[in-house]
Amino acid sequence: MAYKFTKGSVAASTDGRINVILNKNERDLVLDEMRQFLISVQAVSSALTNKDLKSVEKIAHEAGMAAEANTPGALFQKLPLGMKKLGFGTRGLFDDISAAAKEGKEPLEIRKQLDALMNNCIACHATYRLPEPVVAN
Ligand code: HEC
Repeated sequence: MAYKFTKGSVAASTDGRINVILNKNERDLVLDEMRQFLISVQAVSSALTNKDLKSVEKIAHEAGMAAEANTPGALFQKLPLGMKKLGFGTRGLFDDISAAAKEGKEPLEIRKQLDALMNNCIACHATYRLPEPVVAN
């Protein structure tokens, strides 16, 4: 159990990354969250450009830990520990951005936080893959 918690449901991939093996619904859910991540990053960036800190606070909050409330436990068990850390870390950085906006921090300073957050996107994509299941399950 502890072993599984650390390792997750993984296999080697053809491109040197780690395949994380999810069923169709789990994979669809994660990829949907990913597309939402991209929307959130764009929306926070755009709100920062407009110096609209109210919107930054709201959008970043929605992309933070609050967004994890509906993620099924069975799915978490399949994610390797490193991926979970990067995922939760990214949620936490969105929460930090929301808090910074609430405090009225300079938009340029908050943009630096967004730049750093996006290094998490890059790091995770460089390491993990979600292969399409061969059969629907
Ligand atoms: C915890 C790991 C992790 C983090 C952090 C992460 N991603 Fe992903 N993302 C993935 C994986 C794994 C895939 C699937 C990649 C593959 O199979 O080649 C993916 C796929 C995507 C896709 C494609 C979605 C689709 O429908 O195919 C988008 C867009 C995306 N991520 C955006 C982002 C953005 C933007 C961020 C940062 C805000 C981010 N991701 C952070 C792991 C992560």
